Amino acid sequence: MDKMNVISGVALKGEVTVSGAKNSVLALVFASLLAPGRHRLTNVPALKDIESANALLKSLGCEVEFANNELVIQVPETLKHHADYEIVRKMRASILCLGPLLARMQKAEVSLPGGCAIGARPINLHLEAMKALGAELKLESGYVIGHAKKLKGANITFDFATVGGTENAMMAASLSEGETVIENAAKEPEIVDLAMYLQKMGAKISGAGTGTITIQGVERLKAVDHEIIADRVEAGTLIIAAAITGGEVKVKKCDPHHLETFLKKLKEAGIRMTIEKDSVTVLPTSSFKCVDITTGPHPGFPTDLQAQYMVLMTQGQGASVIKETIFENRFMHVQELTRMGAHVTISTNTATVHGEPGGLMGAPVMATDLRASACLVLAGLVAKGETTVSRIYHLDRGYEKLEDKLAKLGARIRRIKE
Ligand code: UD1
Repeated sequence: MDKMNVISGVALKGEVTVSGAKNSVLALVFASLLAPGRHRLTNVPALKDIESANALLKSLGCEVEFANNELVIQVPETLKHHADYEIVRKMRASILCLGPLLARMQKAEVSLPGGCAIGARPINLHLEAMKALGAELKLESGYVIGHAKKLKGANITFDFATVGGTENAMMAASLSEGETVIENAAKEPEIVDLAMYLQKMGAKISGAGTGTITIQGVERLKAVDHEIIADRVEAGTLIIAAAITGGEVKVKKCDPHHLETFLKKLKEAGIRMTIEKDSVTVLPTSSFKCVDITTGPHPGFPTDLQAQYMVLMTQGQGASVIKETIFENRFMHVQELTRMGAHVTISTNTATVHGEPGGLMGAPVMATDLRASACLVLAGLVAKGETTVSRIYHLDRGYEKLEDKLAKLGARIRRIKE
């Protein structure tokens, strides 16, 4: 298992380009199942999660070619409908094949994704949406087994604005008969990207990006080309890397609108930035203050940037209260940050960080999940001496060559292959 070695002491400097959004690609590759033919996705990041998604697409009968950030998916007229545990267990987003398979093949056998380090993460809302569209579902031997004659449009009201649930419902409804209205839909930028892709394919969707999405089902969709939006979580991670080191970095090819709440909080803290149409330039900031955040569904503060933001707060003046409302167990990075000298206390879903600029010390630490691993790499950039982050495979699931990008900005970071 590879490790990442980071030595602090460098204020990052230069320009860095953000890769395509992991969470967007993961929805779009499964949406491609809705239309036979040749789909071409560009700006696709080379990530472990994309490898897992490609393996699943192949097991369903697709031909997949992936090179130079371009993913070509050849979807056959008839798909297999079994999504095996061995692939699904590696990546929760595999559940996103459920809607497309039910809509295209009228049947699906999809392994339950199981738990996840950051919380229980059930899929009840996905299942309720499929049932509302007329699918008959049962759980057997760890699989969701679904049948449907022809899915029929329905009114779906989510109890929680679930991202994956909204995506599954949008995809299935696109090939259903009649109108579907999704209420309390997720509003994330990745939902909007999925809607754009489906629209290009011929779907009739309106309201994506708002709490109500309306879909008029169509008989057939066609294969198309699409460029993936920028990864807002990677952009935010790079912005924090620049800010904690007091560096000057232009984070290019990102959409600041997708990061509005995050950027507002950084500004409130006193991080100096220039924001342009498709870039954020972090300017040298010698001192900043701690600011409270509460994570929430978009446009709230993204839970996927909570761990990284916590590192920033360890370097601020004062104290910051960080409340996590999306996942129940997303403070696993705290224990490791504490080992590096951070002053953080946790009470249920709230962490209080007492900032101490320059107070972190390098240590061997262990990544527990994707965003926690990014948080520990960031901590290594400012912790006195040397930090080695083990279990870095979590990082490879969601960041494309993060160490190369940071090294180009001057960071002393290297991967130790084991
Ligand atoms: C997606 C993102 C993930 C991000 C999350 C929240 C992808 C591939 N992943 O995950 O990076 O952290 O959104 O922004 O896009 N829930 C249920 N029942 C369900 C579905 C969800 O109770 O059927 C709960 C979850 O346990 C969680 C909350 O709802 O507590 C949010 O989950 P959801 O929005 O569905 O997240 P994902 O789509 O899994």
